[in-house]
Amino acid sequence: MLTTARLSDDGRVIELGWKDGRVSRFHAIWLRDNALDDKTRSAGNGQRLITILDIPAETRIGAATINGGVLEVTFAPEGKAVSFPSSWLRAHAYDRQQAREPGWTGGDIERWTKATMQDSVPRATYAEASRDSDVLRRWLAAVRSFGFAVMDGLPAESGALCKVADLFGYIRETNYGRWFEVRAEVNPNNLAYTNLGLQAHTDNPYRDPVPTLQILACIENTVEGGESSVVDGFAVAAALQVENPDDFRLLSSYPARFEYAGSSGVRLQSKRPMIELGPDGELICIRFNNRSLAPAVDVPFAAMDKYYAAYRRFAELIEDPAFEVTFKLEPGQSFIVDNTRVMHARKAFSGSGKRWLQGCYADKDGLLSTLAAIEHGFKEAAE
Ligand code: FE2
Repeated sequence: MLTTARLSDDGRVIELGWKDGRVSRFHAIWLRDNALDDKTRSAGNGQRLITILDIPAETRIGAATINGGVLEVTFAPEGKAVSFPSSWLRAHAYDRQQAREPGWTGGDIERWTKATMQDSVPRATYAEASRDSDVLRRWLAAVRSFGFAVMDGLPAESGALCKVADLFGYIRETNYGRWFEVRAEVNPNNLAYTNLGLQAHTDNPYRDPVPTLQILACIENTVEGGESSVVDGFAVAAALQVENPDDFRLLSSYPARFEYAGSSGVRLQSKRPMIELGPDGELICIRFNNRSLAPAVDVPFAAMDKYYAAYRRFAELIEDPAFEVTFKLEPGQSFIVDNTRVMHARKAFSGSGKRWLQGCYADKDGLLSTLAAIEHGFKEAAE
């Protein structure tokens, strides 16, 4: 593993050589802040016990040795000795040459299209997922990788969708309630409650933060049509970027506005881009919803026509059947979408018969936390 340790820049930097030839540089100040000793980090909960102001700004490494795969350093001027296991250093190495293009995503994300997904929709039955943590792990991992998954075998009754959220976390309540009804109404306060088809969209982009997960469950579905479909917004954004990088740049660099004021006492507003990138260019969120898009006022006049052309092209790609995975929810079936990534749509349906779905929101950080904890448990069991 670790073979050499060499100080440079007067002890401000240490260069570690690995058996495989790789070299990883670390800054003394970084190593000191991330020291693993029990004066720096709580042995109980792992939380840091010091602040940046407890570390001298002029921190250097005075001495460094490798001892049985462990790096031992002494920090000056504190005279503090700290050990770092080589496995920890390797896992946290940050000295990488990586040219990341805007719109990159992490290794956990797998983009998909109709061709790759229609015949392999991830699914589990509720009974198995609630009984067998390996089934639950695979189902949650599918949500992490693909941004959606189907769950079968729920009771076809009101409120059953909460059982899905209970498997990994908590419902996020909104002004629509703990959950909301999606069925045809005579005077709907939201177009979702009609029999019209709905363009593929993410839900509630007018909230900030946006609900990161949505669960839709079917209680009754005897109408003609009314199929559900999902579209991978990350795949569409990537296609837009390949086709026309400037379109991608416009939609990711100018904020859109979203608004919902359809019920009394509610005026939700947000200002966020349709394609949101993190500060390092990571693709982190898609917001797309024709019903709640408000007038764009943050795009310069000179760029507005190009912005609209980019919006139109993004919408055309979203409508492209090559990206659409379709299924009809039967009573007792539900699906979950990562609402920061995967758009959902509904086909129009006829007035005969009944279509009764319920929807609710939940939080992706809770889902990912539960998944990571299960994975950690599996790893420990295997060791
Ligand atoms: Fe929706």
